[in-house]
Amino acid sequence: MKHNIALIGFGTVGQGISEILLSKKKYLKDKYNFKFEIVAVADFAYGNCYNPKGLDIQQMLEEAQAKKKFSKDLYDKDTLTLIKKSNANIVCELTYTDLTTGGPAIDHVKAALSSGKHVVTSNKGPAALKYQEFKKLAKKNSVKFLIEGTVVAGTPIINLTRGPLAGCEITKIKGILNGTTNYMLTEMEKGMDYASVLKVAQDLGYAEADPTGDVEGFDARGKVCILANVVMGAPLKIADIACKGITKITPKDIEKATKEGKRWKLIGCVEKKDGIVTGSVNPEMVELSHPLAGVMGAKNALTFTTDMLGDVTIVGPGAGKIETGFSILTDMLSI
Ligand SMILES: NC(=O)c1ccc[n+]([C@@H]2O[C@H](COP(=O)([O-])OP(=O)(O)OC[C@H]3O[C@@H](n4cnc5c(N)ncnc54)[C@H](OP(=O)(O)O)[C@@H]3O)[C@@H](O)[C@H]2O)c1
Repeated sequence: MKHNIALIGFGTVGQGISEILLSKKKYLKDKYNFKFEIVAVADFAYGNCYNPKGLDIQQMLEEAQAKKKFSKDLYDKDTLTLIKKSNANIVCELTYTDLTTGGPAIDHVKAALSSGKHVVTSNKGPAALKYQEFKKLAKKNSVKFLIEGTVVAGTPIINLTRGPLAGCEITKIKGILNGTTNYMLTEMEKGMDYASVLKVAQDLGYAEADPTGDVEGFDARGKVCILANVVMGAPLKIADIACKGITKITPKDIEKATKEGKRWKLIGCVEKKDGIVTGSVNPEMVELSHPLAGVMGAKNALTFTTDMLGDVTIVGPGAGKIETGFSILTDMLSI
């Protein structure tokens, strides 16, 4: 079977998955018998395009990278119509994350699942706010709602619990879910104060002009919410998760941790105790002997506490064009 793919959002991740699909087309066919065309692309910045036989994605990448509007196979109707009416059977939702309302992504996902199309997304909004509802809708329409890229980009987290860790009961997942704050804490340990390190993180493009989502822990909280719903099966809402960021950490706090043989990390945690699942995000002083303490810079890491293996820790990139594009590929391969 040939799969027809629609990309909703053609920014960093949309271009990342396009580059991967272009460069690995032969490998994916030979190794996995994965045959595909990208038939639809919708993006605010570049326009909407549709060709049921396959778009010229190389040209579209060149146009987007030159910040030009798309010029071929233009589609004059809106994105929801494109999602519903196109011959795509897989819709990749790759627009911006809105953890308050879910943004347009909620409508995109709903339209795709309702019209019998699989959805693959790295967008935390639909996953954190509507996971249970969309899972049911996907089941009703015999399609999948897959979200590997919403937590730690392409580093396998959700698929790890479904595949290699299946059969292990996971009682706790704890770790570093935000690369920006981990980078900042790493630099603060070298002697910089919070304000200076934030400026450097912004200059390097790790932190946004408005860093609130990262430094107040909201981004990590969205991921904790997803893990609670997806891995622990608990219908937690974002508001149920206690959250504190790193804005109050001072050089004195850093010094105290060093003296005690510890290191500050912003820790997201979801835990099942006596059948009750709770989630939290808090700065913690982690013992240097713990694997999470050695995770420095913009890297992410999670420790799973399991009944049969004890603790299992996975470390990897939590962002990036190809790294997140890979999460979309791996979910498509599982379809
Ligand atoms: N980049 C990463 O490393 C990474 C890692 C993990 C997860 N994610 C998540 O993956 C998603 C995509 O991230 P990204 O980095 O690719 O974002 P991005 O670079 O900002 O790209 C998003 C694209 O979607 C377009 N867009 C916004 N609203 C739209 C709509 N209603 N219809 C069609 N297009 C729309 C944007 O156009 P305008 O610019 O004109 O608004 C932009 O071109 C986000 O939800 C993000 O949180 C990203």
